[in-house]
Formats: sequence, C-alpha cells, structure tokens
Amino acid sequence: MMVCEYKPGLEGIPAAQSSISYVDGQKGILEYRGIRIEELAEKSTFLETAYLLIWGELPSKEELEGFEHEVRYHRRIKYRIRDMMKCFPESGHPMDALQASAAALGLFYSLRDLHNPAYIRDSVVRLIATIPTMVAAFQLMRKGNDPVRPRDDLDYSSNFLYMLDEKEPDPLMARIFDICLILQVEHTMNASTFSARVTASTLTDPYAVVASAVGTLGGPLHGGANEEVIQMLEKIGSVENVRPYIDHCLETKSKIMGFGHRVYKVKDPRAIILQGLAEQLFEKFGYDKFYDIAQEMERVVEEKLGSKGIYPNIDFYSGLVYRKMGIPTDLFTPIFAIARVAGWLAHWKEQLEENRIFRPTQVYNGLHEVTYTPIDQR
Ligand code: SDX
Repeated sequence: MMVCEYKPGLEGIPAAQSSISYVDGQKGILEYRGIRIEELAEKSTFLETAYLLIWGELPSKEELEGFEHEVRYHRRIKYRIRDMMKCFPESGHPMDALQASAAALGLFYSLRDLHNPAYIRDSVVRLIATIPTMVAAFQLMRKGNDPVRPRDDLDYSSNFLYMLDEKEPDPLMARIFDICLILQVEHTMNASTFSARVTASTLTDPYAVVASAVGTLGGPLHGGANEEVIQMLEKIGSVENVRPYIDHCLETKSKIMGFGHRVYKVKDPRAIILQGLAEQLFEKFGYDKFYDIAQEMERVVEEKLGSKGIYPNIDFYSGLVYRKMGIPTDLFTPIFAIARVAGWLAHWKEQLEENRIFRPTQVYNGLHEVTYTPIDQR
C-alpha cells in the first residue's frame, strides 16, 4: 500500500471532486457553478443562488417562482420545536441553540429516502425555510418574548429581518442582507462543508448533516470569527491602539481575527464586496467609528503580514455590516449558517450522487504490546 505523507489540517489534499464552486486563492477569484461572485452579488438573490448551487443551473422564471413559493410556505416551525427552544437557557449561544434545533427537526422527518428526488427537494426546502425562523425564534425567546410568525408577503431576507424584531426592514438593508447571504452561501471544501460531506457519506439524514456542519461552523477559526472580530474591535477601542494590539498579537503568536485564509493569499473577494456594502450602509444610516479601526488594522496587518499572504477574509467586514443593521453580535455566526445551509445541501446532494464513506487513515505514533497494570500498582 502507498504510504502518504501526513499533512496537518489535510492542507492541499482533495477530499472530493466537486463542480459546485471554485476558488483561485492567488488571484482572489470565487465562482459558483462557474459564475463570478461579483456578478451574482450584483444581479442575483440568495434563493436564486441557492437553487443554482443545489441544482447546478440558474432556474427559469417558473422554476425560481416555484422554489420561492415552496420556501415561503414552509417557514413555520412546529410548536414542539418552539417549545423545546423555550427550555434552552437564555445565556446559551445561539449557534448551540441552532445546532440542537436543526437536529431536532430530523425527529419529525425520520424517513431516509435518499434516492428519491422528491425527498431531496423536500428536505432542501424545509431546511432553507426553517433555519432562519429558528434563529429568530431563539433571539426573541431568550429576551422573554414569543416568537413572531413568518410573514408570507415578505421575501426571504426581509422576512428574517422582520422576524428578529417585528419591524419591516428598510429595503436597502434587506437587499444588502440578501447579498451577504449570497457571499456566505458556499466556499469549496471549508471545514463545515467537509464535516457535512463526511456526515452525508454515512447515508444519514440531511438534518444530521446540517446539525454537524452547524457545530463545525461555530468555532472561532471558522465562521465564529465574525463575532470575534467585533469583540476585537471593541477591545482595541481606537485607531491609536491598533498598532500596539497587532504587535502584541505577533509577539504572543495569537491570531488576528478576520485575517488569513488557507486558500486566499490576497484579500478575500467577498471581503472586498462586504466592505463596499458596509460603506453603503454608513452613507445612508450613519458612520461607525469601528470602520476607522478596521481600516487601520487592514493597513497595519498588510504592512506586517502581507508578505505572508495574510489579508482580510470574509469574516472581517461581515460583522460591521450586521452591526450597522442592529443585529446582536452573537447572531452573526447563526446568520452565516442561514446562508451556508444551502451550500452544505448542495454538497450533500453531490456526495450522494457518487457516495463512498469517508474513512481516512492515520499515522499511529503510540505504543504497542503494553501489559495491563492492575489499579493498585499504578
Ligand atoms: C472562514 O476554509 C474556508 O473557506 C473558510 C471560509 C468559508 O467561507 O467557509 O472562508 C470562512 O472560516 C474564514 C476564516 C475565519 N477565521 C479567522 O479569521 C481566524 C483567524 N485566521 C487564522 O486562524 C487562519 O488564518 C485560518 C484558520 C483562517 C487559516 O489557518 P491555516 O491555513 O491553518 O494557517 P495557519 O494557522 O497554519 O497559519 C499559517 C501562518 C502562521 O505563521 P508561521 O507559523 O508560518 O510563521 O500564517 C500565520 C500563522 O501564525 N497566520 C496568522 C493569521 N493567520 C495565519 N497570524 C496572525 N493572525 C492571523 N489571523
């Protein structure tokens, strides 16, 4: 048998063949099904992009309307799920609440008809439709309020923003939020997508696939970084403190949140678009002094770490956009999950099309032939 070199973090090792998305990390290019992210951000909607990723092609007008209609009418969550969520501690992190709720959804749809296109479509619609409702419900319930019912007359993103505080959002805000979802929906073999594919490869149900991916997304090295970026900006507090903060990170070898990427060695193309969106929001709704700190951070990190290819990633500016929308910081990663669920489902479907269970090997570096020591002799 061929002996392979062990690569920590599986760096550079292909885990699947996929036609869903493509990244060129040197040129800063990201494509979904061959279409550049910049074009989708300008012309598409989140649900249309989700359809593209999952079914491989842009939908016709009828197909899109049909998909939007189905998602719209599956937004409500079962009262048992809502009541279960009411028992979650208010101090719990919304990502943990989401992971538990997504897994609980599987209790209601335990049939695993994985070769039936109708089952796949039904699961896709149900997950994309209900994940935002679950995030918003936990947000209201942890404040002691009842969740609000989804509004069938509102589009996907407007409805989510409405469900967060029972106010119809400004149309510019809703459109910018929708673009953020487009930017966060998919990104090749990132950690949570890998997790989704590993779980999918056992032929379990899609609710378990999504629950395992949500758990993986939450960590600060992955999607959880967007929340930590805002905490970091709060801690820095002023433009003058940026340089000493970065020097301290470098001296103590701690990571600067929202910077660096396994694949990108230039500024993440999604960060460029998000920065522009943040500026649009500041223009209409007022400036955020954190933006000055963020820009200074970008300058200083480029000066110190640019030669190593460390630049802002997607999580650096997304927090500033969500903050300007008045969204609580600990909902930033659940919102990333609202978007990414469609990417995970595209990979779930693709994995099932040519499935083989993931079962890598390891390099054993432990002992052999050790004799058992009785407890009174240890
Ligand atoms: C996402 O994979 C995806 O596609 C993910 C994602 C998606 O859409 O799914 O793009 C979303 O997860 C974005 C990343 C969010 N995380 C962060 O912002 C946390 C901070 N970033 C780093 O921890 C790091 O850059 C990672 C986790 C993103 C990437 O880790 P790698 O590829 O394992 O890189 P590494 O930790 O081995 O670092 C390589 C070198 C080291 O220096 P040397 O030891 O070689 O001298 O770069 C340095 C690191 O110290 N480095 C950093 C740094 N990131 C890398 N130094 C300071 N601050 C950083 N942020």
